[in-house]
Amino acid sequence: MQEAPQPFSFVHSNRRVISAWGGIDKLTDLVKEAGVTRPVAVMDAFFKDSELAARILEMLHGATGARPSFHFVPAHEPDTDTVEACAAMLAGANPDLIVAIGGGSAMDTAKIARLLLSNPGSTEAISGFGKTFKPHASLLIAVPTTAGTGSEVSESAIAGKANSDIKLIFRSPEMTPQIALLDGSLSVSAPAMVTAASGYDAVTHSVEAYVSRASSVMSDPFAESAMRLLGRWLPIAYREPTHQAARTWCLIASCQAAIAFNSANLGLAHAIAAPLGAMHHVPHGLANALALPAIAAYNEASMGPKAAVVASAFGTPSAALGLSRLRLSLDLDLSLDGFVATDEAREKVAQAAMKSGQVRMNPRQATIEDMRAILESMRVPTGGAVPGLAI
Ligand SMILES: [Fe+2]
Repeated sequence: MQEAPQPFSFVHSNRRVISAWGGIDKLTDLVKEAGVTRPVAVMDAFFKDSELAARILEMLHGATGARPSFHFVPAHEPDTDTVEACAAMLAGANPDLIVAIGGGSAMDTAKIARLLLSNPGSTEAISGFGKTFKPHASLLIAVPTTAGTGSEVSESAIAGKANSDIKLIFRSPEMTPQIALLDGSLSVSAPAMVTAASGYDAVTHSVEAYVSRASSVMSDPFAESAMRLLGRWLPIAYREPTHQAARTWCLIASCQAAIAFNSANLGLAHAIAAPLGAMHHVPHGLANALALPAIAAYNEASMGPKAAVVASAFGTPSAALGLSRLRLSLDLDLSLDGFVATDEAREKVAQAAMKSGQVRMNPRQATIEDMRAILESMRVPTGGAVPGLAI
């Protein structure tokens, strides 16, 4: 710490994060405080006809005196049709409160659809970076039910372009929810594979944000804490779904990782995960799990003193070993060949990944040959060992 800090850009805001086991019950007071009268709930379809949906209806009705409208977001990763269906419902309801409850799909859909209300037009027209938007006046409360995307605190969202293999990225401070309500009890009903894959997405956020070229003295503490918490608690949340401490720590960690990547950006795993999702429908967290150990091996010599910190966060002598073991413990040690069957298809993924803005954020500057070697490495499950890399 003898040297002056590197220059940085870090985004912060006066948004709130609330964490409590059973904290969903705080919704009544939060809504009453806000004095809103036109509530809408946007929920993951997983929760249709659930006790949780009934409880949300009861609380929103009790706090506002109005019967809330509900919109259920389909289970698959959202596309522009998903977003536009949600936006049409929101436009009809003219809400002054939107509660988004679910995983990344439900939260991202609600965030983009809400932005469309105040910036009408096509969904595609509001995608991309560096645009200025009119804010929507509604209060947005996000309630994640899986530890993963961190969408509850990020100013970004992703949706596919319908009937294509293009992923659109949306980014604006106007999309960040004003309140993130973290309640670990809501994540106990998630299927084990969702806990594993979405949890590994959060792991990837924490590691990629920590070693990113845009990381800083402001984002590093969030990213490092998230790595350590996920390294310790994610395997427990996976094996013991009702473990209160594990569920709560994982949600907090995924939130911290998103606060970090909101400013620090990500890296090669996300550059690869995007085309794997768009072209081959690999679930996002699983795509990251296929990629991250090989990328950690690729990055190891370029991470400087941070290599040892990542390794220690996962309790192993090297980052690649720790991330490979963690992947195995979550039953995510799979072959890329199960999703991308041919050399040609793999080459298309490599070419598409190189176009991602995240390539520039990675600590080691990848060439197309490097990308091909990483994808080749991803074909071989490691059994918890360091992935082989022919570079
Ligand atoms: Fe991600």
